[in-house]
Amino acid sequence: MELNTIERDDIGAAAEDLVVLPAATRKVFVKTYGCQMNVYDSQRMTDALAIDGYAATDAIGEADLVLLNTCHIREKAAEKVYSELGRIRELKAERAKAGREMLVGVAGCVAQAEGAEIIRRSPLVDLVIGPQTYHRLPGVLAKARSGEKIVETDYAVEDKFEHLPQPKRAELIRRGVTAFLTVQEGCDKFCTFCVVPYTRGSEVSRPVAQIVAEAERLADAGVREVTLLGQNVNAWHGRGEDSEEWGLGRLLFRLAEIPGLARLRYTTSHPRDMDDELIAAHRDLPALMPYLHLPVQSGSDRILKAMNRRHMAKDYLTLIDRIRAARNDIALSGDFIVGFPGETEADFEATMQLVEDVNYASAFSFKYSPRPGTPGAEMNDQVPEAVKDERLQRLQALLLKQQQHFGASLVGKTIDTLIEKPGRQAGQKVGRSPWLQPVIVDEKAGEIGDIIRVRITKTGYNSLFAELA
Ligand code: SAH
Ligand code: SF4
Ligand code: F3S
Repeated sequence: MELNTIERDDIGAAAEDLVVLPAATRKVFVKTYGCQMNVYDSQRMTDALAIDGYAATDAIGEADLVLLNTCHIREKAAEKVYSELGRIRELKAERAKAGREMLVGVAGCVAQAEGAEIIRRSPLVDLVIGPQTYHRLPGVLAKARSGEKIVETDYAVEDKFEHLPQPKRAELIRRGVTAFLTVQEGCDKFCTFCVVPYTRGSEVSRPVAQIVAEAERLADAGVREVTLLGQNVNAWHGRGEDSEEWGLGRLLFRLAEIPGLARLRYTTSHPRDMDDELIAAHRDLPALMPYLHLPVQSGSDRILKAMNRRHMAKDYLTLIDRIRAARNDIALSGDFIVGFPGETEADFEATMQLVEDVNYASAFSFKYSPRPGTPGAEMNDQVPEAVKDERLQRLQALLLKQQQHFGASLVGKTIDTLIEKPGRQAGQKVGRSPWLQPVIVDEKAGEIGDIIRVRITKTGYNSLFAELA
């Protein structure tokens, strides 16, 4: 087998004593479902597999390894995995006929939640690996290649991030000028509808030094905008460079010092964890983009209580007022669930009223999906599907109106745009507004990675059109 060497500082701490690695002889196809954290995890798994000799491919038929990075949040999301596995069964059989192997792995939150059950339902699956053990992937694969079926869903005692290799600089450059960086994982909140505390475990915050080192690598590879990720990102509290405990606000100030990093964001936040320091960061830190995803789920106090959200509707509205007082151009986004058990028409009306009061720039809304093992699934008064459908339609119509209104309010204004990638149409490039909308500009307006001043000329369905100001 051909061997090639890699630079020592291109591999993570765990790979310290790894000086040679096999040339990319095998191919891996990774499919990602669910939230941004899974997008980040898929990249880190791809990085770990690169050291193990697997090159990423977009062609599933060519893959020696297929990895599905799955989501368990709603039933529909979880069931997608099984329909995908159905399709893969045929591909695997075809490859077997041609004498080629195709290992099939299930990672992510379905893996953590269902474990060995996945292999029982879909015997073609060779390995199941939960989010806490991705750094063990190469070892797990070695066993799987020798024919063993593996289920790896323990919560690892070691710090996975310490052991996951860093990607090469060239790979980071290829990934573009915006990046995700997970700073916090897991959740201790136990909202009664939600699987995350069970699939991702309890809250863990990465230390500042680790986060800064990763952000510096990103900046060095040309990344201009970093989004800090966590299931409960504003509950992040990590060991600082001074060994004191820091909160997210302080971390943001520190990251803003890194040369090249012009824009910072964080997601997803819980209203209970928006502390004064974080609100002050919105006031005092220009690099922190004026956009905040702050889910509330419902506008009814009764339902908020049943959901175990641990605040009332008016607490949320007061908080929004404080955040807007700190940064008046901040745009808000949220998540909503309709049809939680016991939700009456009056409860739903309270949600509509809260949406009117806040006036969102964008939002996600979902029909309640009972999840196995969560308290909500056991509650009486489950709401009929038809009622959920009808409420969802009304809520989405209102949210869409607000989103379009927000877009239209920007026409004629001059704003900063980070140029991100070539446009779908020739002669165009696509940028990103401070509020996360795609901004279509002439390709000569600037280079990818530039932040330019543009004037918004019109709105598209979900995008803005602009010319150089
Ligand atoms: N940590 C975040 C949410 C993560 S899950 C928070 O606390 O807000 C993302 C979104 O999925 C949630 O905000 C919620 O709106 C939705 N969601 C979670 N569980 C759900 C369920 N069982 N049914 C429907 N939607 C759900
Ligand atoms: Fe789920 Fe978010 Fe509640 Fe945690 S805070 S249980 S992730 S909805
Ligand atoms: Fe889904 Fe897991 Fe994210 S359940 S939303 S992939 S944390």
